[in-house]
Amino acid sequence: MKKRILVTGRLPGKIITSLSKRFQAEINMEDRPFNRQKLLHRIKDKDGLLSMITDDVNEEVLSKANQLKMIAQFGVGYNNIDVLAATKLGIPVSNTPGVLTDATAELAFALILAISRRLVEGDRMTREGRFRWWAPMLFLGSEVTGKTLGVIGMGKIGKAVAQRANCFNMPILYHNRARINVSEETELMAKYVDMKTLLSRSDFISLHVPLSDETRHLIGSRELSLMKPTAYLINTSRGPVVDEKALLQALRKKKIGGAGLDVYENEPALTPGLAELDNVVLLPHVGSGTLETRFRMAAMAAGNLITGLNGKVPPNLVNPDVLSHQRL
Ligand code: 8YV
Repeated sequence: MKKRILVTGRLPGKIITSLSKRFQAEINMEDRPFNRQKLLHRIKDKDGLLSMITDDVNEEVLSKANQLKMIAQFGVGYNNIDVLAATKLGIPVSNTPGVLTDATAELAFALILAISRRLVEGDRMTREGRFRWWAPMLFLGSEVTGKTLGVIGMGKIGKAVAQRANCFNMPILYHNRARINVSEETELMAKYVDMKTLLSRSDFISLHVPLSDETRHLIGSRELSLMKPTAYLINTSRGPVVDEKALLQALRKKKIGGAGLDVYENEPALTPGLAELDNVVLLPHVGSGTLETRFRMAAMAAGNLITGLNGKVPPNLVNPDVLSHQRL
């Protein structure tokens, strides 16, 4: 008998076809996530789950999934999954690292340029017919070239952002759990500094850390107060890394230059007031949102799921401790 899988979001056609050939697949074809009740109900009899960031795969959900033998997350971040609970239950969890590095770095850079050169404000003004004539002091932004970039979290995506910043002659400061090796630092022209130095010296600060107990509210009112009044905060990582209320206050009071956000503390809700400000650019969590990348992510997640359900070790396993007592 074919194994049963649940795919909680619409993936590219080819991937769906190939999964449907191998498995008895239930696929959420609506472009909205399952609510808690639906997820609890649908996961009950499934052997495999291909999950999205919008699925809260918590202990309760996992306790109902008596047959579940593999979770393949569509995404590099997997903070929506209680990995500890999955590991206890013997369920391997995988993610999709690497394939979305360039797309996410591109988006971080797009936000850097958009907020400093006031792209969204300028577009709005032009559309509304408020561009009457050119003037030397009209709509001035802040130059990116030569400005200091602070990268918090120097993993794959942080490094890809630094590479792009090299082309803009931006000196790079970074902070990370551990220093990267010296040859990489030299190649990226990046200098390791403590958080305080990074916050106070950078003109742009870009966040690239996973969400964890250590990184929740990593940027709060204290950190924002250390930033230059002209500096911009860019977040393409996870919303709760930033205390959004504190950010709103800093933006309102013009304590910092502005922010470019792709992720939110209570996604998809925004802190009331945020959308009214001109000194912030807001995007709907599209860091990895290119056709090419979403295809690669889908292929990788499907590959992980197939390998895991074949009883083999999936290539992108995030909880190797599970292997000693894997549910088969
Ligand atoms: C994904 C992301 O689109 O990979 C991640 O961690 O944040 C996004 O790029 C999202 O996770 C979809 O599940």
